[in-house]
Amino acid sequence: MKETIKDFDVYHKNNKQIMKFGYFDDKNREYVITNPQTPWPWINYLGNEDFFSLISNTAGGYSFYKDAKFRRLTRYRYNNVPMDSGGRYFYINDEGTIWSPGWKPCKTPLDSYECRHGMNYTTIQGEKNGVIAKTLFFVPLKTWAEVQKLTLTNKSSAVKKLTIFSFVEWAMWNAATDMENFQRNFSTGEVEIEGSVIYHKTEYRERRNHYAYYSVNVPVKGFDTDRETFFGLYNGFDEPQVVTEGKPTNTIAHGWSPIASHCIEVELQPGEEKNLVFMLGYVENAGDKKWESKDIINKTKAKKCIELFDTAAKVDIAFAGLRSYWDNLLSVYTLDSGDEKLDRMVNIWNQYQCMITFCFSRSASYFESGIGRGMGFRDSNQDLIGFVHQIPERARERIIDIASTQFPDGGCYHQYQPLTKKGNNEIGQGFNDDPMWLIFGTTSYIKETGDFSILNEAVPYDNKPGTEVTLFRHLTVSFNHVVNNLGPHGLPLIGRADWNDCLNLNCFSYDPNESFQTTENKSEGSKAESLMIAGLFVVYGRAYVELCLRIGNTKEASSAQKHIDTMIEAIKTHGWDGEWFLRAYDYFGNKIGSNENEEGKIFIESNGWCTMAGIGKEEGLCEKALNSVKERLECEHGIVLNNPAFTKYYIEYGEISSYPPGYKENAGIFCHNNPWIMIGETIIGRGRQAWEYYRKICPAYLEEVSDLHKTEPYVYSQMIAGKDAFKPGEAKNSWLTGTASWNFYTITQFILGVQPEYDGLRIDPCIPDDWKGFKVTRKYRGATYHIEVQNPAGISKGVKEVIVDGKPQTSNLIPLSGNGLEHAVTVVLG
Ligand code: GLC
Ligand code: GLC
Repeated sequence: MKETIKDFDVYHKNNKQIMKFGYFDDKNREYVITNPQTPWPWINYLGNEDFFSLISNTAGGYSFYKDAKFRRLTRYRYNNVPMDSGGRYFYINDEGTIWSPGWKPCKTPLDSYECRHGMNYTTIQGEKNGVIAKTLFFVPLKTWAEVQKLTLTNKSSAVKKLTIFSFVEWAMWNAATDMENFQRNFSTGEVEIEGSVIYHKTEYRERRNHYAYYSVNVPVKGFDTDRETFFGLYNGFDEPQVVTEGKPTNTIAHGWSPIASHCIEVELQPGEEKNLVFMLGYVENAGDKKWESKDIINKTKAKKCIELFDTAAKVDIAFAGLRSYWDNLLSVYTLDSGDEKLDRMVNIWNQYQCMITFCFSRSASYFESGIGRGMGFRDSNQDLIGFVHQIPERARERIIDIASTQFPDGGCYHQYQPLTKKGNNEIGQGFNDDPMWLIFGTTSYIKETGDFSILNEAVPYDNKPGTEVTLFRHLTVSFNHVVNNLGPHGLPLIGRADWNDCLNLNCFSYDPNESFQTTENKSEGSKAESLMIAGLFVVYGRAYVELCLRIGNTKEASSAQKHIDTMIEAIKTHGWDGEWFLRAYDYFGNKIGSNENEEGKIFIESNGWCTMAGIGKEEGLCEKALNSVKERLECEHGIVLNNPAFTKYYIEYGEISSYPPGYKENAGIFCHNNPWIMIGETIIGRGRQAWEYYRKICPAYLEEVSDLHKTEPYVYSQMIAGKDAFKPGEAKNSWLTGTASWNFYTITQFILGVQPEYDGLRIDPCIPDDWKGFKVTRKYRGATYHIEVQNPAGISKGVKEVIVDGKPQTSNLIPLSGNGLEHAVTVVLG
């Protein structure tokens, strides 16, 4: 069914297929799932520093330490049948009735089910025959372990004798070889058991200095560590033989596939409640402290950690610590708009997703295997802007890590590995937008914190000791990388690709076995230029100039400004197609994204960046371009990337035309770039249009079409299928996407208009004219600002009056006070 109705409200009112699988509990900052059969596993992330877990609403998922590829603790089966196989599972044998509190894997019908995904924790509760089993999963702060507190309650009037089996399956550490090198893996597995703790020590005897463990805080009836025995060779996760028989067999795994399962007997009187605390943890030992005695691993650290959480009371305290940690993080920016959907996105979920993308870049989700991609250079810089106000110190460290993977000519590794922080050779370099993002990341950090000292940090090139220069120098080489790589029209050469990984203009590929992104077989003499990088260069080039002026480097500022002015002229002369900005020139120097083209006449990226840069604003170019975007790229689910979609393979364009029409970079709604158009709209003052675009892709507003949308209604997805797709409106690739930070940046800084600058907060909203106003509380550089924006004249943009603590101001820049006090700010539009 293809809807053509343009107006979002009308569309949703007419859309009868309202289908929800849960609801938002804003007070607790949770999404509550009430039906386990969500249209796709709806997941959450535990941990936010070193130890991480992914957990679905049926307890699927896996854990790892720092790096989802190199330090995988537990195994997960991607793209399996049934979906979402592998996790931390509990089986309850209630005198023959076997069930799982998360419904899966047993799928025994439950009397009730509820999953609550909160800020870095998840609870899953199931009820069957008078027994309630609720598990709280979280990684306590500063802890290398996932805690699982299982609370069992007997609601019935009879005594309950339950046999509980826990289950996790160990991965052989390297998640990639774990899935392919079976000839070795089936022989290496080793475990050790002491008391109620099962240790996984595969490869510990040689080069590894780490092991994992799974513990429970009560004596066990028995355990199992051999998978084949536990399940029976021909059974699935839903009917482990040991569970069905109700008896552990105390197997010790030697090779094959080691697992960890405890068996615990629990007797519950009517009304009685009991807690069990399980821990899945990770330990590293120094080379000389690896062993207790021959073949017996040193368990000191594991025991210490287990002891910290060995009672329900200790767990509850740690959990309260996590909750207040998040209270604090989320108190930096809070909105009261009167629209509960908007408030829950701004105050809770969008900020939370920004923390997650900051931690994981594009590495580990239910769409990213954790094996393929590390931390992206451009991605991590962009992720940072949605996170920097939460924990600036971590953003600072990240900027240094990213910059350390740059080369002296300003080029940089496209990705680096989180464990080693070293650039990834397989993907290499050559994405010519990459360097400019470092300027964005760094200036955003300084505007948030005022910490100019970061510019003087000594940062190496390519992580090579002895090559250190200042971070400021890294910004200079970033800027110069564009200046030194211009094409025949004076526009930036695209290299392997710009932001759009799939516009590979120097790759002519006939071979399905080669990667579009690493194959650059036609760069010699290439005329391929990018208007996206051109706009990007103008926007962050100006940020660079502003920074140079700040630190008194006027010479560099004026020389940089000349390059920017020249670029603006080049864009106006060679980048304007009449009704919109061109997208690129190809290898041969032919236009891409022009009305002359048969397909792909218009693209979103260049129109976003050139309007964000305000290029030709006075002459009306921005308005024209944005009108064209609305006319040709907007649809009921968002703004598609290009139009018309490519219907055949254009060898000179690369990967983009390899996708079927309407998906991904070929005319999908690539949510990451929709905010660029929203910001462009705010630049020309069209608050209503910016807001409508915002709302169209905003997950909380899509909750009622969850059956169509498919992915979690509490987080953004990378892509929603566009108007040319088979199923418009269906989302994919949730969680790890630059969409999170770009939407947060756009709503908070451009629509609500609270912008950190070097000298204070600028308040410059651009809102729908029928909004009466809103309130924002912003903690900033040591003070708290209670900002109330009023819109008595019913306009979209323009500040008439600013009053701070009763005193009228001459500008809309609220000066810094840094005195730890609270300030009342009234801003009147007009
Ligand atoms: C993916 C990549 C990002 C890229 C985008 C567009 O999200 O992570 O780096 O810019 O796709 O191709
Ligand atoms: C593919 C995807 C793109 C992603 C890239 C990462 O090209 O279409 O979105 O950024 O792979 O390698």
